[in-house]
Amino acid sequence: MSRTSLPMPRPRADARLVDRYGRVGRDLRVSVTDRCNLRCTYCMPAEGLPWLAKPEMLTDDELVRLIGIFVDLGVRQVRFTGGEPLLRRSLTDVVRRVAALEPRPQMALTSNGIGLDRLAAPLAEAGLDRVNVSLDTVDRDTFKQLTLRDRLADVEAGLKAAADAGLTPVKVNSVAMRGVNEHRVAELLQWCLDRGYELRFIEQMPLDAQHAWTRDEMITADELHERLAERFTLTPLPDASRGSAPAERFLVDGGPATVGIIASVTRPFCGACDRVRLTADGQVRNCLFARGEGDLRALLRGGADDETIAAAITGEMARKRAGHGIDDESFVQPDRPMSAIGG
Ligand code: 5AD
Ligand code: SF4
Repeated sequence: MSRTSLPMPRPRADARLVDRYGRVGRDLRVSVTDRCNLRCTYCMPAEGLPWLAKPEMLTDDELVRLIGIFVDLGVRQVRFTGGEPLLRRSLTDVVRRVAALEPRPQMALTSNGIGLDRLAAPLAEAGLDRVNVSLDTVDRDTFKQLTLRDRLADVEAGLKAAADAGLTPVKVNSVAMRGVNEHRVAELLQWCLDRGYELRFIEQMPLDAQHAWTRDEMITADELHERLAERFTLTPLPDASRGSAPAERFLVDGGPATVGIIASVTRPFCGACDRVRLTADGQVRNCLFARGEGDLRALLRGGADDETIAAAITGEMARKRAGHGIDDESFVQPDRPMSAIGG
């Protein structure tokens, strides 16, 4: 027996989603649709993408059954994503049914905010705990340029409704793009501070459908920090507060407000990853950048029992790689764009 390697961390008995590196899957990201009503240039082309046809998508019954199996395997947080998850009309029903699972997982939503003005209250009532709203600028023209839609006011109304419905802390996710909104990051932070929203910036990752990402064009976490530090005093919170959460957080002007910077590319946090993903067409993915997926829909529709499906999920987790390898020579961007995986 080799004595050179460190002992594997011993996960608790309810944690069955363990990979070769001892990481435990606790956080399930579920893409409930691949469609979107915005066209963020770093995500998809102006004409949109060839969307999944209805029969390819999981039904509500299939979705809830799969989420239940993930919960049996130890998942404790479910995040609904898209595309734009609010475009799935049955989302409130799905949330209500997931809230009835035992143990009841925490439920969060990542949305672009459009439609949230109407849906925040019913979603909260159905059991949703929190939201993250994607917003890259609060300047109307820049918003239009970046998303190809004039919908800033809808997003603002959605954020307000989320806060009013108690879906707190309301978090805002933002991607800074060179020459587009990078000079407006401090303005966005001030806007969020004024309204009590917790802002987090995410480094742009190579997940666009157009495959146009280049490392040189990406605004790095360090660059962002520099830009914000021109206007605000940023005090790093101890790393211990980070855990498996990818954001490096800073107190703004002495706090209590904070800002997060997610250095997905320049300081990857793959070693602490607790995520697993389910696409709208029922494929399990062990990573955003996974090259393979496990076809749970085929099992479901072939009449498989829960144990067989659970085994397919744990098998996919066992294949999880140590890191995303964006910086490696051999890096290959996944075939699926972000909008069809879920953020
Ligand atoms: N890199 C980083 N973040 C992205 N998002 C979409 N595409 C990318 C990308 N290529 C963000 C959205 C949203 C969340 C789902 O992921 O802005 O906040
Ligand atoms: Fe839609 Fe999100 Fe992609 Fe923007 S980043 S086009 S909001 S899925």
